[in-house]
Amino acid sequence: MADHAILAGKRVLLVIAGGIAAYKSLELIRRLRERGVTVRAVLTEAGARFVTPLSVQALTEDTVYRDLWSLTDESEMGHIRLSREADLLVVAPATANLLARMAGGMADDLAATVLLATDKPVLVAPAMNVRMWQHAATQANMALLESRGVLRVGPNDGVMACNEYGPGRMAEPMEIVDAIAGFFAAESHRPLAGRRAIVTSGPTHEPIDPVRYIANRSSGKQGHAIAAALATLGAEVTLVSGPTRLPDPAGCKVVHIETAREMLAACETALPADIAVCAAAVADWRVDGASDRKLKKDGGGPPALALTENPDILATLSRPGEHRPALVVGFAAETGDVLTYATAKRARKGCDWIVANDVSPGTGTFGGSDNTVHLIRADGVESWPTMPKDAVATRLAEAVAGYFEGK
Ligand code: PMT
Repeated sequence: MADHAILAGKRVLLVIAGGIAAYKSLELIRRLRERGVTVRAVLTEAGARFVTPLSVQALTEDTVYRDLWSLTDESEMGHIRLSREADLLVVAPATANLLARMAGGMADDLAATVLLATDKPVLVAPAMNVRMWQHAATQANMALLESRGVLRVGPNDGVMACNEYGPGRMAEPMEIVDAIAGFFAAESHRPLAGRRAIVTSGPTHEPIDPVRYIANRSSGKQGHAIAAALATLGAEVTLVSGPTRLPDPAGCKVVHIETAREMLAACETALPADIAVCAAAVADWRVDGASDRKLKKDGGGPPALALTENPDILATLSRPGEHRPALVVGFAAETGDVLTYATAKRARKGCDWIVANDVSPGTGTFGGSDNTVHLIRADGVESWPTMPKDAVATRLAEAVAGYFEGK
């Protein structure tokens, strides 16, 4: 449970949309106010069918904002000001309809307008029927919002008001309070503020001809998670990404490239930096003299592809010089003797740390959601338990922050 002391003095704008869970938002207001949070509320037209404006007003001890066209509200507090005079916007319950309107950038009522106009972080607590939550449209809307940095708490599993069972119940008021406290705690923990980081992620595509290329199975999950984790700790992150299916992580500058040479050029452009983390699976070789026309199957047998070596981005960034980042972290993808090969790689490439992982078939390291890594530094090896790639990223980012502590 997050430390609730952090909540005192914070300002939350609570958007209450139209769902049966809206009654829990009244309890949420009470719990937040008990902890010293100023709560201002926006109630949608549908929300007002589930809870009365009078109850919300009594609990917030403030005006309840409802109408985009209210001259009184606009003269007291314009909707743009309303959207910015809070430390956090919380949408509870966040209905399928409001999530869709947020994802689509609609501004068709006060709630949607405020959510579109805000420059403040947004936390949503989805609440809806299980089928509505599981519908591809809602899942796509939620994924899009999360890729834009919208935070989420819940939904929980349980019996719904409609007697169906599954995910869709709004998180309980105290879970939402915890999520809000967690957000403010994370926001005040920014040990990498003022540091610049370069992260490489994903595969590279090395052309054979205009339609064919050499690639590998990297999904970018590990590298993207590291970029996001460093940004969460306050670093200014440039993510140099090969082709992946992932959305750009929120809070990072993302440079999309295809080849190893483009990746190196993008990394060099992003210098100077304090931190470089090379998690990309860069192709070691490319086709020497890729054809600018599609190779034809002309009956003369398959073409011979001559390969030539790609530049080594990690070794280049690790080279001593004015622009060498203070901390260069490489990865080692091995299929046996992981620690021996990875330790040798750290010395050969000249980086400070190596994160070694086993990519043998069956491990699921390439493309999967979990990873088992060993962090190899000059003074020893730390073996971490298997965990989600997000957790590996958070732990690595904390280790990076520890390195800079006191510097
Ligand atoms: O993307 P995912 O599906 O999430 O999978 C994650 C991962 C397995 C790709 C990742 O955890 C990982 O191990 N990344 C490094 C993959 C790799 O190319 O390893 P390597 O041992 O071949 O290379 C060693 C290091 O040199 C790596 O930091 C690599 O980025 C770097 N390198 C390699 C070749 C090259 N030409 N330039 C480089 O910078």
